[in-house]
Amino acid sequence: MERGLRASVRQHVGVDDFVLLEDYRSEDAFLDNLRKRFKRGVIYTYIGSVLVSVNPYRTLPIYDRETIEKYRGVNFYEVEPHIYATADTAYRSLRGEGTNQCILISGESGAGKTEASKKILQYLAAVSTHSAEVDRVKDRLLQSNPVLEAFGNAKTTRNDNSSRFGKYMDVQFDFVGAPVGGHILNYLLEKSRVVHQSNGERNFHVFYQLLECGDSQFLGELALSSEPYDYFYLRQGECTRVSSINDQTEFKVVKKALSVLGFRKDAIKALFSVVAFVLHLGNAEFTGDEQKSSLKDKSQAETAAKLIGCPGESLATALTNRTIEARGDKVLTTLSCEQAFYARDALAKAVYSRVFSWLVMQLNSSLENKDQSEALIGLLDIYGFEIFQVNGFEQFCINYCNEKLQQLFIELTLKSEQEEYLSEGIEWEQVDYFNNKVICDLVELRHQGIISVLDEECVRPGDVNDLTFLTKMNKLVGKHPHYLSHETADYEARKFLGREDFQLKHYAGNVTYNIKGFIDKNNDLLFRNLKEAMSVASNPILQATFPKTELQSQKRPPTAATQFKDSLAELMTILMSKQPSYVRCIKPNDDKKGGVFDEPIIAHQVKYLGLMENLRVRRAGFAYRRSYEVFLNRYKSLAQETWPNWHDSPKEGVKTLVSSLGYLPESYRLGKTKIFIRFPRTLFDTEDLLQNRKHGLATIIQAEVRMHSTRQRFLRMKLAVTILACHWRRKAARRLLLKRRGAVAVVRRFIIGFMNRKEPRNRNNEFFLDFVYQSFLHNIKRSLPPMNSILDKTWPAAPPAMREASDRLRDIYFRLRCVAYCRSFTPERKAIMQVKLEASQLFKGKKHSYPQSVRIPFRDSALSSEQKQLMPAIEKMALSPLGEGPPVFSFPCTKYDRHGYKPRDRILVLTDKSLVLVDAKNGKLKQHIPFSSLQGISVSHLADGVIIFHLNTSGKKEKEGDLIVDTDHLIEAVVKIARTADKMNAVTVDPQGRIEHKIDGKKMGAVVFVSGSDFSIVKAKDGSLEVRSARRRSLVL
Ligand SMILES: Nc1ncnc2c1ncn2[C@@H]1O[C@H](COP(=O)(O)OP(=O)(O)OP(=O)(O)O)[C@@H](O)[C@H]1O
Ligand SMILES: [Mg+2]
Repeated sequence: MERGLRASVRQHVGVDDFVLLEDYRSEDAFLDNLRKRFKRGVIYTYIGSVLVSVNPYRTLPIYDRETIEKYRGVNFYEVEPHIYATADTAYRSLRGEGTNQCILISGESGAGKTEASKKILQYLAAVSTHSAEVDRVKDRLLQSNPVLEAFGNAKTTRNDNSSRFGKYMDVQFDFVGAPVGGHILNYLLEKSRVVHQSNGERNFHVFYQLLECGDSQFLGELALSSEPYDYFYLRQGECTRVSSINDQTEFKVVKKALSVLGFRKDAIKALFSVVAFVLHLGNAEFTGDEQKSSLKDKSQAETAAKLIGCPGESLATALTNRTIEARGDKVLTTLSCEQAFYARDALAKAVYSRVFSWLVMQLNSSLENKDQSEALIGLLDIYGFEIFQVNGFEQFCINYCNEKLQQLFIELTLKSEQEEYLSEGIEWEQVDYFNNKVICDLVELRHQGIISVLDEECVRPGDVNDLTFLTKMNKLVGKHPHYLSHETADYEARKFLGREDFQLKHYAGNVTYNIKGFIDKNNDLLFRNLKEAMSVASNPILQATFPKTELQSQKRPPTAATQFKDSLAELMTILMSKQPSYVRCIKPNDDKKGGVFDEPIIAHQVKYLGLMENLRVRRAGFAYRRSYEVFLNRYKSLAQETWPNWHDSPKEGVKTLVSSLGYLPESYRLGKTKIFIRFPRTLFDTEDLLQNRKHGLATIIQAEVRMHSTRQRFLRMKLAVTILACHWRRKAARRLLLKRRGAVAVVRRFIIGFMNRKEPRNRNNEFFLDFVYQSFLHNIKRSLPPMNSILDKTWPAAPPAMREASDRLRDIYFRLRCVAYCRSFTPERKAIMQVKLEASQLFKGKKHSYPQSVRIPFRDSALSSEQKQLMPAIEKMALSPLGEGPPVFSFPCTKYDRHGYKPRDRILVLTDKSLVLVDAKNGKLKQHIPFSSLQGISVSHLADGVIIFHLNTSGKKEKEGDLIVDTDHLIEAVVKIARTADKMNAVTVDPQGRIEHKIDGKKMGAVVFVSGSDFSIVKAKDGSLEVRSARRRSLVL
């Protein structure tokens, strides 16, 4: 309902509760609200806890399973008004508080009372627990409806399925809230319908259903045809078939329901036999006069009698005769023709109404709960206020009933209102209302009320008729403010009141009753003979409903009005003991049309249902009340102090809230558990504030939700990252561990290998050795001597295990280097090297100065640049005259004379044929030595540069001796001279330090070589030439 407080909803759908109407006294506002809602297909509205329901006359999608679930266990103000909310509130109060409940459904014929009661029953069945036994009871409770409707409902001009009796049904619940039984009370069946129907109306459904049953054998057994027009009791309304009713289907439903309810086959047969009996009875016609009558066609009565197992003659006699007791004697008198018809109809009515009561009894025994459960929900589906053109005894009873219900309503509403004020500690405000007790008293008061007058008139001997009753009434209650008759009315009122009319000013309005039939209907006379005939019938139902004991009783049975009054009093007691809920049904138009809102008709019902009065009473105090929790919960966002959470008591919260909202002191009261708001405007303003506030709240909530979901995502991601990192670290740690384990294994193997390195290769040292090999090889790779330097003999030291390999490698490498070196040679260089090689063959290991010479490359000339300038002169002056070719090699030297060893600077030029000695200063030829005269060449083993050329002196001048020169280029000079002169074998390296030479053809000299710390060549005392040299002579390049 709180949803309906929103301004947009209020505007278009109206308010959910009439108490929230601003102008609650205005009928127009009331109707306007009803219309708004009806046009929107909203048929339910509250007046406080009273539910107003407008018959939609069309199927609305609001009774499905989901709707039931929506209303289940929900506070009624949390959802839109609905019959389910009313049912749920009652059911929950029953279970929660243990108080018995009753739901009073009232309204005009066709307003939807029976439908409402079915919906309530359906809801209670759906929400209560399930078990085989409970479902059986629920089934029976639900199945009792089609049976009661078949026998108690009829098509009228106002409703195709009009209930022609009042019904109160108690549903009994066990301690877990499961229905375990039920009890039905029926009121005032409209039995006159059995014998008469107005145009366009039908008799009770069951008659037509039976004829339409489609079972010809069954109909044959009951001597019935399938044509309703064959029966007087069915054809008077001239409307035997109705498009909205399928009698054949309904009959099947009824038969099934009867069997579900435990009716045995013979009981069902007996029941329909009585129904058939009534139909046949209606066809009985009489002839005769005012004195005497007889059956036109006895066979009709006989057929009828046969159906109920009664002798045909007895029935025929009972229908046309009457036993009168006169001074103790019983005399059989004949009935006039009119009386016979009356007797026939009276019998039909009595039989039918008693069978109906029997049926209700049977239903009750079928629904009976043996365990005597105390928890009850009562459903009262009773006719509402009736006002027709002509209102008779029935309307009088019905309106009296409604008057009583209104009184109950006022009493209970005010009582509960007062109780609530009291329990909430709020001072009671006097409610100005119309107490209709005065009208109830007018009808029911003993000795003074209308019913008493009627009863007295019925038993009064003498001439009694309806007019005498009216006269008596005028006399006794004529002055009552709520009574009016032609006799007591003023001139103006008399215009509207006939002489046979009286008017009662009911709480819902004035109703004029016509007194015709009051006495008769109140007497409800059934001649004794007819009762006797029925009591002897073999039909078990009639035996039960017309017991013989009744005939023996001398006591006059209570009149219809008294019976009704008593049963109403009983009903009031029942209802008073329960907590009531009210459903007020309204029909929107007289044409049974969906969507048509006929305002005058509705206004009429609003008035006669006393809805404005209801509203007034309900609004007398406060328009709205809610528990502090609910109110605070809904509106707490409207005050800073209470939003978002209030930590003190809800009452304090509401106090803070209303003071923050600026409620005026007179507009509200704070009870013990509830806040009471006097004016709807106050509430609406608050609600509008809430709706506006919602936008702001929505943003906050949205932001919160977003923040929350983002944070959730973040936390998930964080967790995922942590897990990933964790796994990653674990993996990395594991890798490190494995690496370390590997390293440990390597180190261990390394150490073990190291310890066993000297053993032959085995499992213990192979790793270490491999490592050593490997690192040695790597080391070699890094520290190999350069490839292009073949003289570099450095080689990395090898570990013991690799020594052999190292040596081999070194050899290979060196050889490789040599090969590469050799390959890089040009032919010229090769030739030079050839010379070097030959030098090595000559001097290596023999002469001390040789090693130094190895590094010095051999050249064409060892002359200095100055000396070279002499070469042209030498060629010109020495070589050319001698016929020598170009010089092969030239070098400076010091020539020692053979006699005095006097040194002289010379240049020795080697040609391809000879040696030419020239003066180093001017290039003049000094000596020419052809190779043929060169016998040998001697040098010492020491580091000196002295060369002694042994010359062949034979045949030459005597003075000619060997040539002694000293040069820094000894090695190169000797090699070149020897190879050019082809005298390699003639070269001698003297190992002894003394070389003899020829001074001339006869004398010999000697050159003595000694080693010393410095270099010198001097003539020794013994006349020899002493050459002193260090072991290694430093080279002059
Ligand atoms: N809630 C509803 N939804 C749809 N149709 C409804 C509803 N209530 C009533 N009706 C229609 O109105 C018709 C009359 O309703 P219902 O028999 O309940 O009236 P009533 O008040 O019991 O009348 P009476 O006093 O004559 O028994 C139903 O047969 C049904 O067609
Ligand atoms: Mg009904």
